[in-house]
Amino acid sequence: MLSGFDMVSTWRAGNPMAEARRIGAFICIEGVDGCGKTTQAKILVKNLRRRGFDAVYTTEPSVGKVGKLIRRFVLDRQRRVPAALEALLFAADRVDHVQEEVKPLLKWGKIVVCDRYVYSSLAYQGAAGLDLGWIDRINQFAMKPDLALFLDVAPGRVISRLKKKKSVMETMRNLKEVREVYLKLVQQQRLITLNGNQSVEEVSKSILKIVLGKLEA
Ligand SMILES: Nc1ncnc2c1ncn2[C@@H]1O[C@H](COP(=O)(O)OP(=O)(O)OP(=O)(O)O)[C@@H](O)[C@H]1O
Ligand SMILES: [Mg+2]
Repeated sequence: MLSGFDMVSTWRAGNPMAEARRIGAFICIEGVDGCGKTTQAKILVKNLRRRGFDAVYTTEPSVGKVGKLIRRFVLDRQRRVPAALEALLFAADRVDHVQEEVKPLLKWGKIVVCDRYVYSSLAYQGAAGLDLGWIDRINQFAMKPDLALFLDVAPGRVISRLKKKKSVMETMRNLKEVREVYLKLVQQQRLITLNGNQSVEEVSKSILKIVLGKLEA
């Protein structure tokens, strides 16, 4: 199967008159709570559309049934459920999300911009003490994205951004531990780091540059 980026060249070489920029690519935006993922994923979609790409926003937990269960029984609680239960539910939701949303959208040639993916499971449930190898195994059906970006923001800065919006996952200590796992994934070249400490506009410019560089390579 062609990856999104192979499809760019096919589109260019084989069919220059094709409807503009239906190229299919899967891009994930990752990082600790409040680092700016949702803000940036939505701006990226807008920026890509402005340039004629057919881009769509999607998020995990998904809007499907398991995603709804996660929001209700995992995220909106005062105390965390066991980490293994979190990991299994997120992995189940990911199967549903990939099958029902991501793959069909890619087939339509869309650029899918995904707000959190398997890296969030590794970072959060990994920071909670679970084995990263096991988390990877239960996520074996999660297709590899074409590009996965880690928006890195200093934990202190994130805490001040999050003052209004707290959930059970967010304490300073936990943020630091989660960030450590993300950095490990960067070292393993599964994620590309981006400095998220700058203004929304500056960060969005950096993201667009990397994404366009990939799409137009
Ligand atoms: N570069 C930035 N500088 C300052 N504030 C920002 C920046 N990016 C986002 N914010 C603000 O920080 C808050 C969190 O942003 P956002 O919801 O996009 O983060 P998130 O990573 O999606 O969070 P969550 O993990 O909780 O979904 C929002 O109030 C947003 O306006
Ligand atoms: Mg968000």
